[in-house]
Amino acid sequence: VTSASGRQDEKRAAAEAAAGVIEDGMTVGLGSGTTVAFLLSAVARRELKIRCVATSPRTEVAARELGLRVDDFGTLRRLDVAIDGADQIAPDGWLVKGGGAAHTREKIVAAAAERFIVIADSTKIVEALEPPVPLELLAFGLQSTLVRLGDECAVRAGTPVSPDGGVIADYHGPIDDPADVAARLAATPGVVDHGLFPPSMVSVALVAYGRDVRTITIPHS
Ligand code: 5RP
Repeated sequence: VTSASGRQDEKRAAAEAAAGVIEDGMTVGLGSGTTVAFLLSAVARRELKIRCVATSPRTEVAARELGLRVDDFGTLRRLDVAIDGADQIAPDGWLVKGGGAAHTREKIVAAAAERFIVIADSTKIVEALEPPVPLELLAFGLQSTLVRLGDECAVRAGTPVSPDGGVIADYHGPIDDPADVAARLAATPGVVDHGLFPPSMVSVALVAYGRDVRTITIPHS
């Protein structure tokens, strides 16, 4: 069992390892969450000439405060690398993300990157993905979208919103086949995006076990 402070140390270790991948001149996608918070300071300490895009207002503010250049993502066609945390990492490389309600932006940024690097403490490694899977729903027609999604989905307590004003909900049903669940959720009108990230999107996961940061290569079929 990893203690709370041990977990923080692991997040820092994974984030610092990922910061070492960034080189001068790169365009860099910055994810969201507490692991990424360690990444931001580690990247800032390197004083590189890089251009960043942020997946959430909180990351944007924190990165700018640390002196990182954050550009509007509307102006960049691609990114060299994106680095982000995850809520769950399965052995086959499927991820659940979006605990921080930013998974739609995070997926856009990951998809635009040449390399998407996931950083995590050891508690994020799971044998099989478990619900909940975060959803971002359009506020327009919300109740009808929830009817289509069925009893397995519900708006998250406190009705949080995404950085783009979407309503955050969760899928609580089984995840026997992540590809099937992902396809069903994505095909539902009113769902902006869900927090299942396919292995094809992930280049590598840097996962810290104590001070040991292991590079987990993701099987791409
Ligand atoms: C936010 C995310 C985060 O990457 C995920 O929730 C992990 O967060 P943390 O690094 O705080 O454990 O997907 O939408």
